[in-house]
Amino acid sequence: MTVPGPAQDKTAMKTRLPRLFAWVVLGGIVLPGGGPVRAASGPELFAKHCASCHGKDGKAQSPAARKLGVKDLTQSKTSEAEIEKQITEGWKDDRGNLKMPPFKDKLSAPEIGSLVVVVKGLRK
Ligand code: HEC
Repeated sequence: MTVPGPAQDKTAMKTRLPRLFAWVVLGGIVLPGGGPVRAASGPELFAKHCASCHGKDGKAQSPAARKLGVKDLTQSKTSEAEIEKQITEGWKDDRGNLKMPPFKDKLSAPEIGSLVVVVKGLRK
């Protein structure tokens, strides 16, 4: 039975510190400022928040989507500013019924921005 003395603590630190350093460096390479991470999250956000109504391909061909009057996003001519507004504030029909929920409380501005890119990218 040996009780770890100060000398043993020092050697432990010597092996631990470089490892910690390596993780920090690796983290910096894998996640540089959230760049690639944000680029990948656009389609994921669409699948998570939008595909239920708009369909994975944006064409809204499900019976539920047709009943709601969801437009085919691949045919849309909506401007970027209008797309952003639509996602931020949602959409109500003429009688004031909410048909598309607003996402301003659920998504951040950069997330909405990446969704605008995804929505525009659905057009061919
Ligand atoms: C609860 C169903 C529902 C969800 C969820 C939903 N939408 Fe919609 N969306 C609609 C409906 C209904 C319309 C049709 C309104 C209209 O006439 O423009 C619409 C219209 C739009 C339009 C305008 C299309 C055009 O040509 O005018 C855009 C852009 C849009 N949605 C994007 C999104 C995005 C991005 C998401 C996810 C963040 C989303 N929607 C989530 C129901 C939904």
